[in-house]
Amino acid sequence: TEQTYIMIKPDGVQRGLVGEIIARFEKRGFKLAALKLASPSKEHLEKHYADLSDKKFFPGLIKYMLSGPVVCMVWEGLDAVKTGRTMLGATNPLASAPGTIRGDYALQVGMNVCHGSDSVENGQKEIALWFPEGVSQYKLDAQAWIYEA
Ligand code: GTP
Ligand code: MG
Repeated sequence: TEQTYIMIKPDGVQRGLVGEIIARFEKRGFKLAALKLASPSKEHLEKHYADLSDKKFFPGLIKYMLSGPVVCMVWEGLDAVKTGRTMLGATNPLASAPGTIRGDYALQVGMNVCHGSDSVENGQKEIALWFPEGVSQYKLDAQAWIYEA
């Protein structure tokens, strides 16, 4: 099954949105495969956002991500990467539809509450970076009531 790396950024943790964001993925029917609170190093965050290192906002982005702990998660299920991005909303919260996480809880791109993998391949890279210890494998019994036989 497809997996995606979802991260609650420091503003999401500080604003008490952790439970809310987890609940949305749980209720949608995704299976939680990994979860932890972490305070990553600057080097670790620079690796995570390596593709953006040329951008003018990169130093500000790293500073933002270092401003407090983050919640790291792996969610698993049907079309998890694309559906996860849809649930997060657009990068710029002002362009995010109400009902999405950013569309409900954020206003500015530099403070947009959450991260989600943008492709299956990048998702696997991010899961390896954030969970070198591996993720959990188990049978979620509720899936019999989420997926057609
Ligand atoms: P992530 O899920 O966090 O990867 O966001 P994304 O995939 O929707 O956007 P992208 O990967 O292009 O950018 C990563 C993060 O950098 C965004 O979520 C923003 O927090 C930040 N960012 C992107 N563009 C800008 C910008 O123009 N200005 C500022 N200040 N931050 C930006
Ligand atoms: Mg991205």
